[in-house]
Amino acid sequence: MEQYVVKGGIPLVGEVEIGGAKNAALAILAAAVMTDETVVIENLPDVRDINVLLNALSGIGAVVERIDAHCVKINGSTINNLRVDYEYIKKIRASYYLLGALLGKYKRAEVALPGGCDIGSRPIDLHLKGFRALGSNVDILHGLIAAHADTLRGNHIYMDKVSVGATINIMMAAALAEGKTIIENAAKEPHVVDVANFLNSMGANVRGAGTDVIRVEGVEKLHKTTYSIIPDQIEAGTFMFAAAATKGDVTVKNVIPKHLEATTAKLLEIGCEVEEFDDAVRVVASKPLHHTSVTTLPYPGFPTDMQPQMAVVLAISEGTSTVTESIFENRFRYVDELSRMGASIKVESNIAIITGVQGYTGARVSAPDLRAGAALVIAALAAEGITIVDDIYYIERGYEGFEQKLESLGAQIEKVLSEKEIQKFTFKVS
Ligand code: EPZ
Repeated sequence: MEQYVVKGGIPLVGEVEIGGAKNAALAILAAAVMTDETVVIENLPDVRDINVLLNALSGIGAVVERIDAHCVKINGSTINNLRVDYEYIKKIRASYYLLGALLGKYKRAEVALPGGCDIGSRPIDLHLKGFRALGSNVDILHGLIAAHADTLRGNHIYMDKVSVGATINIMMAAALAEGKTIIENAAKEPHVVDVANFLNSMGANVRGAGTDVIRVEGVEKLHKTTYSIIPDQIEAGTFMFAAAATKGDVTVKNVIPKHLEATTAKLLEIGCEVEEFDDAVRVVASKPLHHTSVTTLPYPGFPTDMQPQMAVVLAISEGTSTVTESIFENRFRYVDELSRMGASIKVESNIAIITGVQGYTGARVSAPDLRAGAALVIAALAAEGITIVDDIYYIERGYEGFEQKLESLGAQIEKVLSEKEIQKFTFKVS
């Protein structure tokens, strides 16, 4: 199993380029098969989750042609199987977007029920409620969600909870339903807007994405398009917090600064300087950082996907901070690992109470999930001495060339496969 070995204590300095948004791309790839014409998707991140979904698309018969690492051509006219097996869904939950896409296009789909997840229980009741409201039968049989409808008809759907996945899934199915669908209490995340823009570029009629009421006027069919995915706000935020934790000076390029407002606000609050440009932000951490409180919320609130990275910075900032996780119940699994690096954090229910310490010391830690894994790497970059991060498989699900990008900012980090390689690295950097 691959690991990262990191020699910490070096301020990150320089410029880093952000890739396409993984969570927008996952939905857009699924939606791409909703037309029989060829769709070209650009600015695709070359990360594991994307590659698994592309395999799932080939698995149901779509033609997937990789033009290069960041561009793919997809044709869904050859789909010959409307069942997406557990093999894919167990690797990435987002294969459930194929339910909305296939149900919209073929009025029928069978997708394995996603299993439990490492950040907490992740129900999909709202997705199913939406499909039923559109007139689909939905049964759970032999571990599969089986949805079928004679006709999908638009409806007025109120989401009991703000859900990114359910909003997108319902929007996709509604795009090819008869008549008008109104989704109330919709998620407003930038990737919801990106999926709506993508659908519209294929001829759909989706209005209001980015507000809490989305209106979809169903169309008969969709057509070809070429579409470029928005930048990944979570990858960008991860580098912003890495700059803060290492007392660095990093310009994060190819971003939409508006999408980063919650992150920027928190960095300013704790004492960083943040400069915004048209498509870049610069984070400078030259003064001592101090405590704050943060609560994760749906967009435009502070993202749950950035919570561990923020906590890593607060744990080495002066004073007592609190981090409240309001979206997923099991997103503090990195706390014990961080404590092994010297952090002082107590978790009570969904609140982490963090008492700032002087700094981290290197240790051997394990990535418990994608974002927490990235956060542990940030801690390693700030730590005195050597840190080994195990289970970096998780990090590779969502960060392209993470170690290369960090290296280009001056970090001493290497991906290794054995104890011998760890020793070699340690010898080299000492
Ligand atoms: C998306 O997950 C992202 N995944 C997650 O990113 C992200 O953490 C999350 O949104 C919140 O922003 C993808 O886009 C592939 P939700 P999703 O439905 O859509 C509850 C990462 O690290 N809920 O918005 O599954 C749910 O339990 C990942 O990149 C229901 O109750 O999240 C949660 O409390 C991890 N019933 C809340 O809603 C449902 O049917 C929000 O979840 C659906 C959700």
